[in-house]
Amino acid sequence: MLQPVATSRTQINAMQSMYFMRCRCGRLYLNRFITANGVVVNLSKIVYRHVFVRKYLNNMLVYQGMKLKNKIILITGASDGIGKQIALRLAKEGTQLALIARDEARLNEVVAKCKEIGATNARAYLCDIRQTAKLASVIKKIISDFGHVNVLINNAGVWQKLKSVDELDAESIDEVIETNLSAVIHTTNLLLPILRQQKEAAIINICSKSGVVAQEKQSVYTASKYGVRGFTEVLKADLKGSSVRVAGVYQSGTNTQLFAKVGDKPPIEKFTNPADLADVIAYMLSLPEKIWLHDVRVEY
Ligand SMILES: NC(=O)c1ccc[n+]([C@@H]2O[C@H](COP(=O)([O-])OP(=O)(O)OC[C@H]3O[C@@H](n4cnc5c(N)ncnc54)[C@H](OP(=O)(O)O)[C@@H]3O)[C@@H](O)[C@H]2O)c1
Repeated sequence: MLQPVATSRTQINAMQSMYFMRCRCGRLYLNRFITANGVVVNLSKIVYRHVFVRKYLNNMLVYQGMKLKNKIILITGASDGIGKQIALRLAKEGTQLALIARDEARLNEVVAKCKEIGATNARAYLCDIRQTAKLASVIKKIISDFGHVNVLINNAGVWQKLKSVDELDAESIDEVIETNLSAVIHTTNLLLPILRQQKEAAIINICSKSGVVAQEKQSVYTASKYGVRGFTEVLKADLKGSSVRVAGVYQSGTNTQLFAKVGDKPPIEKFTNPADLADVIAYMLSLPEKIWLHDVRVEY
C-alpha cells in the first residue's frame, strides 16, 4: 500500500487529477486513490465517493512524507540485508542518511543508490562496531558532518551457527554478544545525548523473534537478543516523556544472507522480504505524533 506508483511531482499531479476527474464526472469505476506523495490507496467505492475521506487520506499521507523529509537517520549494518533495505526505503522519503558497516564496496554502493533515489544526503562510515573507540570517533564525525541525528536504527548483527553452546568456540560467542548486544548499548550510549536535544527523535532496535522466544541451538544469539529486548524496555521507561521515542522490532526469519555468512542454510525463500520489513520501519517513523508503535512483532 505504501509504495508510490509515481515519484515526480508532474506525474503525481497528472494521476491525481485523472482519478479526481473520473469521480466528479460520475464515471468512477476505479476505487483507487492516489495521494499527493504518489501512494495508491485502494478503497471501497462508497468510501471513495466521500470527498472528506479523500482529503483526510491525502493530508495524512502528505504529512508522512513531510515528516521524514531531511530527517537525519543513522543506520548500523546498512551495507546488506535489512539495513540496506531500510536505507533505500528511507532514501525515497528524502531523508539524510549516515550509514555504518565494514564492507566498503557494498556500503558505497548503497550510498550511491540512496542518493540516486531521493536521499538529500547520504554518507558511508566504515566501522567495525565491536571496536568501541572507533565507533565513538565515527559517531563524532557523523555529528560534525550532519550537525545532529534524529533517528538511530540499531540494526547490525550476526548469526550464531545453530549449535549447542558447548560446540561453539569462544571467538564466535564473543562476536555474537559484542556485535548484537554490546555494540547496540555503546552506540545508544554515544548518541543518546544528541538525540535528547532534538524535538523529534527515535531509537529503533532491530531485534528478533529470538529476543522473545527461546529456540533450540540458538543459545548465544538468543542471549544477545533477549539482552537487546531488556535494554530496549528499560530505555523506553527511562525516556518516557522525553522527545526520544523507543521501539523494538521482533521479526522472525527474513530473506537475507545472515545465515549463509556462517554456513547455515535455512529455507530463506519462504522468509519475510527485507524490503517489506523496511516498509514497516518507514511506516513506524511516519505516523502522526500521537501514535507510536513501540513493540512490533513481524512473522512471515
Ligand atoms: N535475517 C533474519 O532472518 C533476521 C531475523 C531476525 C532478526 N534479524 C536481525 O536483523 C539485523 C540485520 O540482519 P540481516 O538479516 O539484515 O543480516 P545481513 O544481511 O547479514 O546484514 C548484516 C549487516 O550488519 C553489518 N555488520 C555485521 N557485523 C558488523 C560489525 N561488526 N560492524 C559493523 N557492521 C556489521 C553487516 O555489514 P558488514 O559486513 O559490511 O560490516 C551488514 O550490513 C540483525 O541484527 C539480525 O540479528 C535478522
